[in-house]
Amino acid sequence: MELKVLESNKIDEEVANEIVTLIKGKPNCVLGLATGSTPLGVYANLVKKYENKEVSFKNVRSFNLDEYVGLKHDNDQSYFYFMHHNLFDHIDIDPNNVHVPDGINYENCLKTYDNEIKKAGGIDLQILGIGSNGHIAFNEPGTDFDSFIHLVNLKESTIKDNSRFFSSIEEVPTRAITMGLRSIMQAKRIILIAKGKNKNRAIKALFDEQGIDEALPVSVLKLHPNVEIYCDKDAAEGVIDE
Ligand code: F6R
Repeated sequence: MELKVLESNKIDEEVANEIVTLIKGKPNCVLGLATGSTPLGVYANLVKKYENKEVSFKNVRSFNLDEYVGLKHDNDQSYFYFMHHNLFDHIDIDPNNVHVPDGINYENCLKTYDNEIKKAGGIDLQILGIGSNGHIAFNEPGTDFDSFIHLVNLKESTIKDNSRFFSSIEEVPTRAITMGLRSIMQAKRIILIAKGKNKNRAIKALFDEQGIDEALPVSVLKLHPNVEIYCDKDAAEGVIDE
């Protein structure tokens, strides 16, 4: 795992550049995308680069990591809405090439999502954020490293963390559909971004403690040959790079 510690806006620029470089080399590449506050700056940079005609997403395919169970596409808290509002609606990606796990008809999605990724040729670059408890996608502590797409009951800490986007904590869905850790590990390359003090404990546990342990889902990435971790100073404070 390669650790890069940069200013937050530098992270956004560098990761967006990595994505653009990938698209230029492989215009029909497959991107694995995350939601939440972490990748917002990366998406804003991608929109800018598209507007400046530096890149076209016409043939890009994308697969998102996760979605809340029970939220319809037009609900502004759904990850489908988030992706359209922050990225897809502002670039020339083909709506047919966009995939977000379905939090309503999830039974069908559970059967097909990993296969769809496989049929697309696998994920070339997976973008990840990280939960304060070390989750990646919505794979909470204790998730089987061998998991593919599945339903999950969100941990109280995740519901609390995410309540900042909702008007009250009661409105935060308690279940989600998420790509599994095995699905994520099949990506050819992974970039994880961590920003802010509340990610420091998880990042420290990842670098300072030797173990690869299902209690810290992100630690599975130690088994992947091609992972870059971008942290701001707050997230990386006190971290010993191995
Ligand atoms: C979202 C996702 C989550 C978030 C994580 C951090 O698609 O997979 O794992 O990356 O919860 O969220 P933020 O970025 O809001 O701190």
